[in-house]
Amino acid sequence: MLRLKNIDLTLGQGTKLERPILKNLNLEVALHEFVVVIGGNGAGKSTLFNLISGCLKPEKGQVILSHQDVTKIPARLRAKDVSQVMQDPRLGTIENMTLMENMAMAYNRGNKRLLIPFSTKRRKDLFQEKLSMLKMGLEGRLDDLVAHLSGGQRQALSLIMATLSKSKIVLLDEITAALDPKIAHTIMALTETIIRKEKLTCLMITHNMPDALAYGDRTLVLKDCKFTKEFKAADKKHLTATHLAAEFGEF
Ligand SMILES: Nc1ncnc2c1ncn2[C@@H]1O[C@H](COP(=O)(O)OP(=O)(O)OP(=O)(O)O)[C@@H](O)[C@H]1O
Ligand SMILES: [Mg+2]
Repeated sequence: MLRLKNIDLTLGQGTKLERPILKNLNLEVALHEFVVVIGGNGAGKSTLFNLISGCLKPEKGQVILSHQDVTKIPARLRAKDVSQVMQDPRLGTIENMTLMENMAMAYNRGNKRLLIPFSTKRRKDLFQEKLSMLKMGLEGRLDDLVAHLSGGQRQALSLIMATLSKSKIVLLDEITAALDPKIAHTIMALTETIIRKEKLTCLMITHNMPDALAYGDRTLVLKDCKFTKEFKAADKKHLTATHLAAEFGEF
């Protein structure tokens, strides 16, 4: 499904900040696989996502998504192939639009005919059904502005939006970092449910070691510009959060 082949990527080229971020990095993610990525601050995890979404180009190597080189796909079509949820709940939604309008945009992502026809009953029923999975009462607030939602509610909406139209890969970058522990737990459990139920292929970055142990088919450690370790679900059963964090020098 996704293949990164011999990737070299340097940021800040030609400036004082020039720094290699990824060096001869390889990755293969199978269809319907859920892979967790961990690593220290500045290790290059978000950069890796920007590479996969085609926002950054490598100096060397290829990013192949469903047999297509991502760097050669036009931006409009890339939006349909790759869904992203970021750490900041404000980034995934447009606050001066309603929940309905935001979801309609997500639903039509990658299509030419944006925003039409988003008020049909069928679509409203679908959006309400998806929102009811959150158990936050958002299904009754379709006509409310996103600006009126809390950070946790916005992040939950972003997650539903990112998984509304079936993209080839879903990239989740520290999606629970800004949330209180209870909501963070709800969102993580829901993430797992949606990924498995919808049979999505997903890469998720987290700094939460218990989550890195509990979720995903395997967990990869990004360190020194490449993946240094891989823990399969069976391996993770024998690890503690402290052991996992030690892999990239947290302790
Ligand atoms: N435009 C840029 N020019 C130079 N260096 C950059 C640029 N953008 C990011 N960097 C550096 O690249 C490195 C990797 O950044 P990245 O955001 O990918 O890290 P990360 O693993 O996501 O970290 P965190 O866990 O803190 O989110 C960092 O040292 C960052 O300062
Ligand atoms: Mg990051």
